[in-house]
Amino acid sequence: MSDAAPALRIRDAAFSWEGGFGIEIDAFEMAPRERVLLLGPSGGGKSTLLNLVAGIARPSRGAVEVMGTDIAALRGGRVDRFRADTLGIVFQMFNLLPWLSALDNVRVPLRFSPARRRRAGDGTAAALRLLAALGIDAALARQSAGTLSVGQQQRVAAARALIGRPGIVLADEPTSALDRANARAFLDLLGAELAAAGAALLMVSHDESLAGAFDRTVRLDAIARVAGRAAA
Ligand SMILES: Nc1ncnc2c1ncn2[C@@H]1O[C@H](COP(=O)(O)OP(=O)(O)O)[C@@H](O)[C@H]1O
Ligand SMILES: [Mg+2]
Repeated sequence: MSDAAPALRIRDAAFSWEGGFGIEIDAFEMAPRERVLLLGPSGGGKSTLLNLVAGIARPSRGAVEVMGTDIAALRGGRVDRFRADTLGIVFQMFNLLPWLSALDNVRVPLRFSPARRRRAGDGTAAALRLLAALGIDAALARQSAGTLSVGQQQRVAAARALIGRPGIVLADEPTSALDRANARAFLDLLGAELAAAGAALLMVSHDESLAGAFDRTVRLDAIARVAGRAAA
């Protein structure tokens, strides 16, 4: 991971799902620490693009450089290690482990990444600090994640993505279950913690009203061509 490298640089990448949906991205770049909102319609390929950046989907050609490393060129376990070290991911449904406490959920990425453990220092203190900054107090932090409200779960998911200062955070429509005021409040808190971590943010959404919380807004159809789009 290199601090001077762009947070993300995609060049001439193509990917197709087995069902026929394909996406091609000629060029897309994000500066270090830049916060980008990627807008596109439902079924348009937003989650597919995030899967490419996360190394969950592998392009059939081209490069997907994350913090200076072409994740598409990594093989086997190196993809998982690189992802664990470098990326924070906020999934659309949050994917918290419901029986674990909020605190233990936030500490999960530290188990998979020595680099992140090192950057976090005292993992429990780091997790509690992030949770508090995002509005989850110490009592809530000890509650099992499955008992928290959707808004609270989202904040736990954000803290989990941020722990150990990843270079870039990916977020897949994390505000879709919130009303506008709460979505904006969440993004402002997230923004402050991204700045503290020195992390970039690539968030995808269909909601243009969120644009004010970002450095830049990009439309998916301006950077990608899709084919075989299924009815959304
Ligand atoms: N796991 C998958 N297997 C096969 N096709 C998929 C899969 N995930 C998504 N797709 C296809 O990719 C298209 C784009 O989906 P997606 O990237 O989830 O769009 P968005 O996130 O913008 O709603 C879908 O219409 C679907 O046809
Ligand atoms: Mg999606």
